Amino acid sequence: MTRGFVMVVVAGILIGGVAFAEEDVPNLKDPKMIAAGHDLFLAKQCAHCHGVDGRGGINLTERELDPKGIFQSIADGREKRGLRMPAWRDVLTDEEIWQATAYVMSVGQQPK
Ligand code: HEC
Repeated sequence: MTRGFVMVVVAGILIGGVAFAEEDVPNLKDPKMIAAGHDLFLAKQCAHCHGVDGRGGINLTERELDPKGIFQSIADGREKRGLRMPAWRDVLTDEEIWQATAYVMSVGQQPK
């Protein structure tokens, strides 16, 4: 009886969580989002490792990225060949992470 109730609650949280994440992706093509993301990119030292336009150091423009993957990487951090990007979840708000995501998408999609 109690266990059945717990199962229903857990399932509800899982389904609710997925639905929420799905709807929660903002409009990443909004120029305001992209501009805010670029400001953030310079202000939060992203440019220190990724270059002022995402092309220096650890280049972000030559890979296929999907918005949720970018969000996740920025939020949780990432490690590759001994290079580590810190997690930004405690530093940036979700909104700011989406702005940074919009910016990263914009440089990825417009090769110069
Ligand atoms: C200390 C250096 C450092 C800083 C600062 C840094 N990154 Fe990174 N970033 C990395 C490394 C290392 C990787 C992983 C290397 C790779 O995937 O090639 C990475 C990967 C990424 C990726 C690719 C994720 C993927 O899924 O392939 C994105 C997007 C990104 N960083 C965005 C940002 C943003 C936005 C900021 C600022 C809020 C930032 N980074 C700050 C080092 C850094």
